[in-house]
Amino acid sequence: MSAHTPKLQVQLNERLQKLKEIFIQKFGKTPLFYACAPGRVNLIGEHIDYCGYAVLPMAIEQNILAAVSVNETRTIHLANANPQYNDYTVSAGDIEIDRANPQWQYYFLCGVKGIQEHLGLAEPAGMQCVVDGTVPASSGLSSSSALVCCAGLLTTEANHKTLSKVELAETCARSERYIGTEGGGMDQSISFLAEEGTAKLIEFSPLRATDVKLPADAVFVIANCCVEMNKAATSHFNIRVVECRIAAKMLAKSRGLAWSGLLKLGEVQTELGASLEDMVQIVEEVLHPEPYSREEVCQLLGITPQSFSNDILSPNTQHVSHFKLHQRARHVYGEAARVLQFQAVCERGSDGAVQELGALMQQSHASCRDLYECSCPELDQLVDTCLRAGAAGSRLTGAGWGGCVVSMVPIDVLDSFLPKVRESYYQPDARRSALEKQSLFVTKPGGGAALLFEA
Ligand code: GLA
Repeated sequence: MSAHTPKLQVQLNERLQKLKEIFIQKFGKTPLFYACAPGRVNLIGEHIDYCGYAVLPMAIEQNILAAVSVNETRTIHLANANPQYNDYTVSAGDIEIDRANPQWQYYFLCGVKGIQEHLGLAEPAGMQCVVDGTVPASSGLSSSSALVCCAGLLTTEANHKTLSKVELAETCARSERYIGTEGGGMDQSISFLAEEGTAKLIEFSPLRATDVKLPADAVFVIANCCVEMNKAATSHFNIRVVECRIAAKMLAKSRGLAWSGLLKLGEVQTELGASLEDMVQIVEEVLHPEPYSREEVCQLLGITPQSFSNDILSPNTQHVSHFKLHQRARHVYGEAARVLQFQAVCERGSDGAVQELGALMQQSHASCRDLYECSCPELDQLVDTCLRAGAAGSRLTGAGWGGCVVSMVPIDVLDSFLPKVRESYYQPDARRSALEKQSLFVTKPGGGAALLFEA
């Protein structure tokens, strides 16, 4: 039986007080309770959660916070403390998610709808909510999942139900797919399972989180490359998911496994009882580096183009004509091994740990850039800048194609690291310079989602 999300009695700090005032102004009553869910930074293990492999994130201090009250009209009234985002009203029993238009309220409604369905609520509660986010949007720090998780948690409470953290994480991971991205469960899992002061190894099927003690002589610094990436607005993300799915089927078929039900590269490894090193070898033997055409995939799997479109592709990948299977599978098995090495080095905790972990982060970034092709020139430039400024390792974090890098910086060089990155990456460019304050910061492992009640 896994633990429940904490319910805390709190004195309102400045941010909560401000949110309460906005709520009263909007809805003419005081909030009943508050819910918060953090963003995250992934230290290592990129694009492997949806292949079934463990990842190693930590929650950040930035979060999504919402003030909530319940109404009798079965209507959900949503507002955002940031005036840039519009108000939105919808009937609680009739939520539609507009995939073509991935705006903030739809992420919130993914969480609401997912929980309503999971709980089988015939008459879901109406709610008033004001949302306040401090996780920078479209930056790879999981602002969207934090919003889904916050909405899922407050919907549970508004309907007088309780779910375990694991159930909340799994339900919110499934429900974010209403928006159309086929993410794994990393973001939602760490948002619920995080604990202050520790990173977590997150494993799936069954979902579980294990503390990973980070070296005391280094800190993690997040730096945003200032290129925005909204993964629901493009098909990059889902193309990678589909390439991994096809690669899994091809590898399974080549080894005589029943491949048609297999979806994940991790499942192929389990079925074969092979090591990750063996899997890299098998990829080399079975898959060629040239991109595969649709015709070639259909021919090798012995399926019709129709079945390929219906059973393997997703709605926003129907247009893709070529698939890089060798490179994607190489990345996934290599990255899965690096996560385990990272955890082992942290556990051992010797003197050279920071350098070893830094080297693993470097390999991870190179693999994301060259094999998975989810970096961009600005991310690569920022990684180089961070290394030159003294980081032991630096890599893109989150989905990529923009957003943030995370660097591991020995404590004794931190004071010179930050100004060096500022001078070389942010100050020469007016737009970056304007964004610098919220774009470059030291972070430490934060706590998970919680319900808050005014004391
Ligand atoms: C997004 C997804 C996650 C994960 C990362 C890449 O954040 O939501 O599930 O796949 O990208 O590691």
